[in-house]
Amino acid sequence: MSGILEGKRILITGVLMESSIAFHTAKLAQEQGAEIILTAFPRPTLTERIAKKLPRPENVKVLELDVSNTEQLDGLADQVREHLGSLDGVVHSIGFAPQDALGGNFLNTPWESVATAMQISAYSLKSLTMACLPLMAEGGSVVGLTFDAQVAWPQYDWMGPAKAALEATSRYLARDLGKQGIRCNLVSAGPLKSMAAKSIPGFELLADTWNHRSPLNWDVTDMDPAGRGVVALLSDWFPKTTGEIIHVDGGLHAIGA
Ligand SMILES: NC(=O)c1ccc[n+]([C@@H]2O[C@H](COP(=O)([O-])OP(=O)(O)OC[C@H]3O[C@@H](n4cnc5c(N)ncnc54)[C@H](O)[C@@H]3O)[C@@H](O)[C@H]2O)c1
Repeated sequence: MSGILEGKRILITGVLMESSIAFHTAKLAQEQGAEIILTAFPRPTLTERIAKKLPRPENVKVLELDVSNTEQLDGLADQVREHLGSLDGVVHSIGFAPQDALGGNFLNTPWESVATAMQISAYSLKSLTMACLPLMAEGGSVVGLTFDAQVAWPQYDWMGPAKAALEATSRYLARDLGKQGIRCNLVSAGPLKSMAAKSIPGFELLADTWNHRSPLNWDVTDMDPAGRGVVALLSDWFPKTTGEIIHVDGGLHAIGA
């Protein structure tokens, strides 16, 4: 039986550790028949080591990409073309905020730290998509990861407004790229114990909410459901869905108390 990404070529950012949502996405994408190319930050060596654990590690090219580096963004399309050809999908699995923008310091965070969080976590969805645009002449699917930005969370601080900006950016990309057959959607994942999560002081406090309120049992160590959501959006099974946010959060977003 063929997979739902058979014949598709997908660029995946954000593979840093085995706990990265992007690693599980890459694994599932390969299992579903996709050819993939990875981008890495801060160093390709880390990502290359983790990529060896993929089901088909041979020929998985890793390109260095800091989304705040214009030169690297400008050179991305040519490098991808050389190794993989065109693209059918792009996964944005990138988030960062300086320590003073997280963990209960909301009222005192300086603009410089907020600006960094916004650039790396939100604006980069536009930068990455535009860098890949020349490779998606036949249309494509862009998928990013958010953490529900409709409400305020404990500890999450300026990542909250950054995710709100990411969610709005996704809708505007959907608006401007729809005519070219490019869809842009997000998966809103529940809390997962990745490197990014560990950098949020008091993450456990935030994650504990899921023990009380999530309709479906939620496991902070299981990245598979979020990866499946991303793969589904990359596939042809959401052909008329764009500007959408699919919650993969055990249903918590639907529950008031
Ligand atoms: N872990 C969670 O609880 C959770 C929940 C919802 C959404 N998300 C989102 O999922 C995405 C992936 O995070 P994760 O939880 O897998 O953690 P992770 O730490 O494994 O991934 C974060 C990635 O961001 C990359 N990154 C940081 N700065 C970068 C830069 N300047 N250029 C390029 N890449 C850069 C890192 O290299 C890393 O691969 C993020 O957008 C995150 O906000 C995570």
